Amino acid sequence: MHHAHMTSILQCPVCRKPLLPTASGYQCAAMHSFDAARQGYVNLVLAHKKHSKEPGDDPEMIQSRRRFLDLGYYCRVSDGINQAIAAVLSGLVSPSGCSVLDAGCGEGFYLQRLKQALAQGRAAQLPIDYYGVDVSRFAVRQATQRDRTMAWFVASINDLPFLDDSLDIVLNVFSPANVAQFARVLKESGTLVFVGPGPRHLNGLREIIYPVTREHEEPSITEKAKEHFALATVSRITYPLELSGNQVIMDLLGMTPYFWNIDQETKARVAALDRLQLDVDVEIRVFNKKNRG
Ligand SMILES: C[S@@+](CC[C@H](N)C(=O)[O-])C[C@H]1O[C@@H](n2cnc3c(N)ncnc32)[C@H](O)[C@@H]1O
Ligand SMILES: [Zn+2]
Repeated sequence: MHHAHMTSILQCPVCRKPLLPTASGYQCAAMHSFDAARQGYVNLVLAHKKHSKEPGDDPEMIQSRRRFLDLGYYCRVSDGINQAIAAVLSGLVSPSGCSVLDAGCGEGFYLQRLKQALAQGRAAQLPIDYYGVDVSRFAVRQATQRDRTMAWFVASINDLPFLDDSLDIVLNVFSPANVAQFARVLKESGTLVFVGPGPRHLNGLREIIYPVTREHEEPSITEKAKEHFALATVSRITYPLELSGNQVIMDLLGMTPYFWNIDQETKARVAALDRLQLDVDVEIRVFNKKNRG
């Protein structure tokens, strides 16, 4: 595990006091302790707060996502995210260090690529602490395998294990969002980078699944964020994708919410495909936390 600073920004999920690193994991002043798993991550979800035995994405979905992402089809999305975050960092006034949380990090693709990108650019001089949180322990286990030097936690975005006003950037990619929590953990000068589908995202696949293709609606984040955040920039990344071979097509389907919403017949239709042309259309919204005045 990696502990850049002895002053921790983590928060005990039981009593809300700071969590400090120990030899085996983390502990607060009230002696609530959380051991690191053998793989290196730490589970901060309290058993009685779980809504199901294994919340979040299951191992198959995680494997599908990892296979698909590792083939590079979303690297341009990841590059766009990295650029947006590099721009935010270059706007920080003489920071001595900074902290980034990927909330709903899945199997770690975006956070790993962010770290690699920032290690090269102008932000290379800036000490950055990376945190990844997902409620699925399967996802977090995979993420830990990607990079053990980052701090990975099993935790919910609805109960983030960070102190108030402790993070510079919260990244949220294709995951549930809790803007009140994001606002709580972000510093006064903090930034939320929200990434979600644009109007044409996965057109091509959606036409096969639904008889009538609707455009994605404006994400409700814009409305929900208003109380805590001001929208600073929106950028859109859109490009065509051609998938060949059924495995990768099924992996893409397995990553999407469609997988759970379609019937067997529709699934069979996708399972018969050997080639698929579709659109990637992703929107990156950068929000600044509003001052409480
Ligand atoms: C569609 S995946 C996106 C994962 C990753 N950001 C990516 O784009 O590859 C959504 C993720 O949100 C996670 N998730 C669902 N509910 C969550 C919650 N309440 N707190 C944290 N993560 C959650 C799931 O386990 C899953 O990994
Ligand atoms: Zn405690």
